[in-house]
Amino acid sequence: MAIEWSAEVGEFHLRNHLVSYVVRVLESGWLGHVYFGPALAGGKSYGHLVPGEFYGFSNRLGHPVPLEYPTGGGGDYRIPALAIELSDGSGVLDLRHIGHRIIHGKPALPGLPSTYVEVGGEAETLEIVAADHIAEIEVRLLYTIYRDRPLVVRGARIVNTGKAPVILRSAMSASIDLPDSDWQLLTLSGDWARECHVERHDLRPGRQSVSSSRGASGHQHNPFVALARPATTEADGEAYGFSLVYSGNFVAEAEVEPFGTTRVRAGINPEGFSWLLEPGVEFVAPEAVITFSAAGLGGLSDANHSLFRERLARGSWRDRARPIVINNWEATYFDFDEPKLLAIASAASELGIELFALDDGWFGQRNDDSTSLGDWQVNLSKLPGGLESLARKVEALGMRFGIWIEPEMVSPRSNLFAEHPEWAIGIPSRPPTAGRNQYVLDMSRPEVVDHLFEVLSSLLGSAPISYVKWDMNRNITEPHSTTLPAWRQGEFMHRYILGVYSLYDRLTKAFPGILFESCAGGGGRFDPGMLAFAPQGWTSDDTDAIERLRIQWGTSLAYPLSSMAAHVSAVPNHQVGRVTPLATRAAVAFFGVFGYELDPTVLSISERDEIADQVAFYKRWRDLFQRGRFLRLRSPFEGDRNETAWMTVAEDRRSAIVGHYLILSRPNPGPQRLRLRGLDAAVTYRVSLWPPAGEAEGRVAGSVILAGDELMSAGLVLESNRQSAEKGDFRARVYVLEAI
Ligand code: GLA
Repeated sequence: MAIEWSAEVGEFHLRNHLVSYVVRVLESGWLGHVYFGPALAGGKSYGHLVPGEFYGFSNRLGHPVPLEYPTGGGGDYRIPALAIELSDGSGVLDLRHIGHRIIHGKPALPGLPSTYVEVGGEAETLEIVAADHIAEIEVRLLYTIYRDRPLVVRGARIVNTGKAPVILRSAMSASIDLPDSDWQLLTLSGDWARECHVERHDLRPGRQSVSSSRGASGHQHNPFVALARPATTEADGEAYGFSLVYSGNFVAEAEVEPFGTTRVRAGINPEGFSWLLEPGVEFVAPEAVITFSAAGLGGLSDANHSLFRERLARGSWRDRARPIVINNWEATYFDFDEPKLLAIASAASELGIELFALDDGWFGQRNDDSTSLGDWQVNLSKLPGGLESLARKVEALGMRFGIWIEPEMVSPRSNLFAEHPEWAIGIPSRPPTAGRNQYVLDMSRPEVVDHLFEVLSSLLGSAPISYVKWDMNRNITEPHSTTLPAWRQGEFMHRYILGVYSLYDRLTKAFPGILFESCAGGGGRFDPGMLAFAPQGWTSDDTDAIERLRIQWGTSLAYPLSSMAAHVSAVPNHQVGRVTPLATRAAVAFFGVFGYELDPTVLSISERDEIADQVAFYKRWRDLFQRGRFLRLRSPFEGDRNETAWMTVAEDRRSAIVGHYLILSRPNPGPQRLRLRGLDAAVTYRVSLWPPAGEAEGRVAGSVILAGDELMSAGLVLESNRQSAEKGDFRARVYVLEAI
């Protein structure tokens, strides 16, 4: 890994053995983007790749010089990275290189989550400084390259070096110009209960984007997009990934201009955003991770998964085996008391489940969703001994204890709202809009964050709490803070999320032993920013196994299995009413951080036996499920959308687990093979089915011995419903591969 600077030709070359990123100081002093892709040889100039800076006739203005941090008003009509309203009302900027420095390691970003280094020599960071002397604006562009990751982490800091305040209208985290437009834009889109569905469409002339203006990254679009060649598959072909380490309003946008080049930018959504930058003050944009893969979408995922798992997630739970949770939400909703909870915990502990998570409804007067958010004191009529007594009893059953909170919210019917109505977000002249009967607290106010820190610290210190599910169940309306002057209201949404980060930071530092799980009505804020504080998130409120195939497939494009909580729930499923076999529900939820979301006291004996087996199976293979290399084999978004297959492989490739799912049963099916990936071609594996085949099901018992090369080249012969007595819809097969 190296960052080379050639003063002679004015070129920076960041490279490791996987990728190169080349930036050139053009004759004008502009920062030209030369290249990002597979590694190139060092010690050479690549400046000839950049077209000349031709700005001749007026009808040729807009010639696409590729730029690192473009601005508008000077002949570049494409989407800008930076837009500023200067004190004279103009908005033209002309940024030219004035200096740079190379830093060992990677500096943290103040107030924002970021990737980091842990070992010396792991990464280097280039800071390039460009300035506009007329506007008196300085931009510090940050580029980190790691020794062995096919990616560059970019960031930007904007400094007002003048004497008058200016207004930032847009400050992207990264912008990159690619020399052609033969790409498809892949996004993870959907809504509540159907998050992260893969959308993939050819780029066309003009702009195409995904964004959020909700105050959270949102269920609708994830702050991850990829560009893939039309022929790129999971295993082959070129792709670029763009992840924004941010949990608030974002945009990820591509623009194809008339010469057929493509600009991609990612950052805080400029819509509704402005930031008053006083003289001498700096604005820090969140960081963006730009990944290149020549090994298909799978290559992008490999790079993101290991970066997010190893150098974005932090704290004592980063590398630890995550417990199998039972959550009481779908078992009880708000209707519980201590005996009921203990009955659930006790039945769960007999099944081998490791942690009991008490969901919504334990505090204030909360017996439905109309009240008490903000009053984080235990409801003694439901839990007379308080949380501590319940937690101790759960611990006595051999389990850990955890709770649900929704710190950013307040119910209109709550003590907190009665005392501090001014803490709820709203515009004084308008009635506030309630969502799920609740308002959002103004997290841009330090006193609100301080109050929450105090109340939650005393709560978390009051009982042996090992796990916290931090929810956020509505988006922001009437964005406005009464503490900000009129001309600063455009800062509100960013200040809100900075407040959330500050609370997360303080609480995770004060309680380093607690495992935090983020949640926003499921996957409404499932993003890299959250992962820096909570190493796992509740992937979706939709617990139906078939819906989860799509949700977990899509989420896994960007996020590791160790971040994706996945629970087995009761049937008929509470979100879609579907009835799926218990084994299928587990076979889907295994591929993530496993748990249960049902009432174990009402199960039949055979269901209890089945669950005990599932729990034991997951424990045996937990490391593979949480930390293995995840490979997607058959997409639920392609073909007739009736099948899904994926697998996880141990780092040493001596074990692997494959999940194959057939949604609707096929009549008279032909023989089928599934080609596996990521195995060791030279290793021989024992392949066995889970659950173990029993005579009762009429399935072939035992296992088969197969070589890695055969499994990858010829494929695994799938058991079909022609052979199996277990016909029916929603069938899953889990194959365990162990080297012999
Ligand atoms: C959200 C969460 C659920 C549950 C409820 C409780 O919808 O996503 O898992 O915690 O809130 O109100």
